Amino acid sequence: MAGTTKKTILVVDDEAAVREVLQMRLSDWGYDVEVAVDGATARAEVERTQPDLVISDVVLPDASGLDLLDLLRGPAPGRPVILITAFGSIDTAVEAMKRGALDFLTKPIDYDELRSLLAAAERRLIRHVETARLERRLRKDAGIGGLIGDSSVMRNLQKLIRVVAGSEASVILTGDSGTGKEVAARAIHRLSRRAQGPLVTINTAALPEGLVESELFGHQAGAFTGATTARPGCFEMADGGTLFLDEIAEMPVELQTRFLRVLEDGLVRRLGGRREIAVDVRVLAATSRNPLEAVKHGRLREDLFYRLNVFTVELPPLRARLDDVPLLAQSFISTFNDKHRVDIESVSAEALDLMVEYHWPGNVRELRNVIERAMILACEGWIETIHLPPFLRDGARARGERIVLPIDVTAQEAERIVILETLEQCGNNKSRAARRLGLDVKTIRNKLRHYGITAERR
Ligand SMILES: Nc1ncnc2c1ncn2[C@@H]1O[C@H](COP(=O)(O)OP(=O)(O)OP(=O)(O)O)[C@@H](O)[C@H]1O
Ligand SMILES: [Mg+2]
Repeated sequence: MAGTTKKTILVVDDEAAVREVLQMRLSDWGYDVEVAVDGATARAEVERTQPDLVISDVVLPDASGLDLLDLLRGPAPGRPVILITAFGSIDTAVEAMKRGALDFLTKPIDYDELRSLLAAAERRLIRHVETARLERRLRKDAGIGGLIGDSSVMRNLQKLIRVVAGSEASVILTGDSGTGKEVAARAIHRLSRRAQGPLVTINTAALPEGLVESELFGHQAGAFTGATTARPGCFEMADGGTLFLDEIAEMPVELQTRFLRVLEDGLVRRLGGRREIAVDVRVLAATSRNPLEAVKHGRLREDLFYRLNVFTVELPPLRARLDDVPLLAQSFISTFNDKHRVDIESVSAEALDLMVEYHWPGNVRELRNVIERAMILACEGWIETIHLPPFLRDGARARGERIVLPIDVTAQEAERIVILETLEQCGNNKSRAARRLGLDVKTIRNKLRHYGITAERR
């Protein structure tokens, strides 16, 4: 049970003998037991005692246990209810499960079976508590402008984004694919004074080369073959708002020069146009490359880089903030419940363990896909390990992840490399790394201290 608190079970049965035997057994098993003799008293007792679980006879003097189910379960997600009947009717059993009973027992009660049902009920209670906690966090402040995260890394990032959003400065967003650069750009726009204005996104890498220029700057009718009508470019469309320039390092270098000029002057001229049009645009730019490297290799003009890089917002890989996995998963669950018309509550503890062990090369996008797929497979209830893709179920060894060691390495060096690499794979989480290596956390801490390394410095 979640911690040490005693759980309360309400037993509803009109037969005194059954109530007494159940009361005795359940107390022996460590529960607080309340009793009710019919539908009316059950109603009152549910109100008064707010039990964690209910065991109820199906046939009561004044009601049917089936009709009482909604009342006994209470508001969603509902407490677990186990129904008992003297008649082992399949129909009633099916109906009971359909209406949300946890399970069904026939008299005479098999106490071993009851005990295992109670264990299942408790697991479910723990899950409900955890799900409810995640949902509360999501409703409260676990994200800004759609950028969800509760880990300390994300908290700091959210603070930075608030500050950055409040300014008019340009921003470069960096981070691997799927880490949320676009989500962060949206958040900045939504939290800025320009929120009421447009947010225009352009990814020059996704456009045919001949079109990039006219997409950016617009064109007049007849400016080139195929330009039958005049069209404003992104700069004009983003006037009064924000222009999000995705994959900045993929923009043709000649255009980068013109782009910079528009930024400096606030004036844009359409292709084939004579007039300069004044635009008031804030630019956010993203790249999944290291921007300094891109400058060094001549992909990104240095002057443009410095003009844009008033702030850098770096989105960390998901494996560096695995603490966010449950919360992100829960938020995707509510999104996809609506989209796919399924009814998934949350991720089971076992499935979540696997998800927290995984290194997520595709980052949040990959997590989102894994959840979507699992939800379609599961349809209702919980995402269990069987709903996860095989690569997630099999762990690192099966994925063939390797640590390469030079042949003449000393045993001490080998140990150091293995520990540091494993830590890296575990997003610097020492307990997780310890578990994988079959060491204890203290040993890992001591080794790191011995190497003169603190986790923060890595
Ligand atoms: N912090 C987050 N909170 C909620 N959803 C997120 C978060 N980060 C990423 N996502 C989701 O993950 C997916 C990928 O995010 P996004 O498109 O912003 O990544 P990206 O960094 O721009 O990736 P790429 O470099 O491949 O374009 C999206 O579906 C987005 O909704
Ligand atoms: Mg993107």
